[in-house]
Amino acid sequence: MATHLCKDRALVNDWHVVADCSAIASDAPFSTRLMGVDLMIARNGGGMSIVRTDTGQPVCSEKRYGFVWACLGKPERDPFYIRESDEADRHLLSGGSIAVNVSGLRLVENFLDMGHFPFVHTGFLGEEPHTEVLPYTVSIAEEDEILATECKFYQPIASPTAQQGMQVDYTYKVIRPYTVALYKSNPVDPSRMDVIVIFVQPLDEDNCVAHSYLCYLKDGMDASAVRSFMQLIFAQDKRILESQVPKRLPLDPRAETPIRADVVSVTYRRWLEERKVTYGAIPFRTASGADSRDRMEG
Ligand SMILES: [Fe+2]
Repeated sequence: MATHLCKDRALVNDWHVVADCSAIASDAPFSTRLMGVDLMIARNGGGMSIVRTDTGQPVCSEKRYGFVWACLGKPERDPFYIRESDEADRHLLSGGSIAVNVSGLRLVENFLDMGHFPFVHTGFLGEEPHTEVLPYTVSIAEEDEILATECKFYQPIASPTAQQGMQVDYTYKVIRPYTVALYKSNPVDPSRMDVIVIFVQPLDEDNCVAHSYLCYLKDGMDASAVRSFMQLIFAQDKRILESQVPKRLPLDPRAETPIRADVVSVTYRRWLEERKVTYGAIPFRTASGADSRDRMEG
């Protein structure tokens, strides 16, 4: 399918991570792409400047959590605030930026899916015969985020500090269409949660870069071990994601048969549809035959 520029207001007027700050050299600009628009990022004193390579026009930019952010339109709100990033007893670091040949919406949905743990992350995040996804609760929070709570899954090696298999408590939060967070019980102090946030950069509708931001409690944990663990897990996901057909996420609820474990993914697709997010999706065709892209306003 041909690449087209994004017209979804919810995405054009929002912030997106476009690079890890450490990837931007002081003497050479860094080129990347956001929703079909080629960008050039350069260091500019203590900050960063971003221009579109097609028009040479500057693009709104920010630095936060060690990443460079861009907004192609007019920002309507700030980047998502991560409360745990203010806690001194946590490692705060990038878990890496991984390019994946699939729609970023597919990547978010895969991140929300516990059902794949025993089969894709065998021996780490799951193993047979512990394959059942137990019932959990999904709600839309006041901030218009999707919350999946009371998620539980047996994991042989839940994190780099795990000494044995354990039942892990999860909370998922979809914060923006292309931003998702996971709160996971810490093996050393089960009363607190480790946090992984995935900022997905849609390069175009069929390609993305997943930038991960990790907020892990330091106790008993080495920063490099956290990062390597994340990269090991993500490499397993990349292989599965790139084999998905179609590459874009269908929003029609009948397109892919839902099972109980998919409650959060069904909610995510509906939430995208209601917010008129079409970029990276296969819009839901209505009974009249018009699809939601035709109904959308620029
Ligand atoms: Fe996975």
